[in-house]
Amino acid sequence: MTQDQQKQAAAQAAVDHVLKKLDFDSYLGVGTGSTCNYFIDLLAQHKGRIAGTVASSEATAERLRGHGIPVEDLNSVRDVQIYVDGADEANPHLELIKGGGGALTREKILAAAAGSFVCIVDAGKRVDHLGRFPLPIEVIPMARGYVARQLIKLGGEPVYRENFVTDNGNVILDIHGLHPIGSPRALEEKLNNITGVVCNGLFALRPADLLLSAHANGVETLSSETRN
Ligand code: A5P
Repeated sequence: MTQDQQKQAAAQAAVDHVLKKLDFDSYLGVGTGSTCNYFIDLLAQHKGRIAGTVASSEATAERLRGHGIPVEDLNSVRDVQIYVDGADEANPHLELIKGGGGALTREKILAAAAGSFVCIVDAGKRVDHLGRFPLPIEVIPMARGYVARQLIKLGGEPVYRENFVTDNGNVILDIHGLHPIGSPRALEEKLNNITGVVCNGLFALRPADLLLSAHANGVETLSSETRN
């Protein structure tokens, strides 16, 4: 399978999972990115089965609505039973780097709020150690210079993502040079503690519960019970 076929295969596996597990009156969280776009398009064939969704970005909300799938505000729903999203990197502990598309803050809110977090990736996203993919940090615009200096002190090389504003009106710094991240949880906490940081793209304190990982010959399922 090509990378695009792998994304579609992982997305189809997530649709199958949702159809099997999602309660009829429960809400589905939907992530952002090209793998999730396949998920949305495949989900559309079963839209009558879904009570409603909560989207992790304006782009995802628009795509869902385009298919006639209802989208609700997180504050108006009782709970989100399952959240499906892609990732930029996934390690064997189901810890992730996310935010390549800049939607990390809403994605992390949905992952936190969801009963179960299902991550869909192609083989190119699987790594032993996180950090080759530049780690995205969402920052309050006036704090950009200050936060960048703190990131350099932590050993990173922050790069300002030019001409990009998040759905929340903030900017992104992408931190290069972190590989290998020895303790993703500790780094996530450190980054959370820098004043002016809204969110960082490490999903280690709340990793995925299920990783549907496509490769050349099929889709492998890794769960938090079986993770290393
Ligand atoms: C969006 O902000 C990201 O977290 C995406 O989930 C991630 O970049 C994966 O995107 P693709 O599915 O396009 O690779």
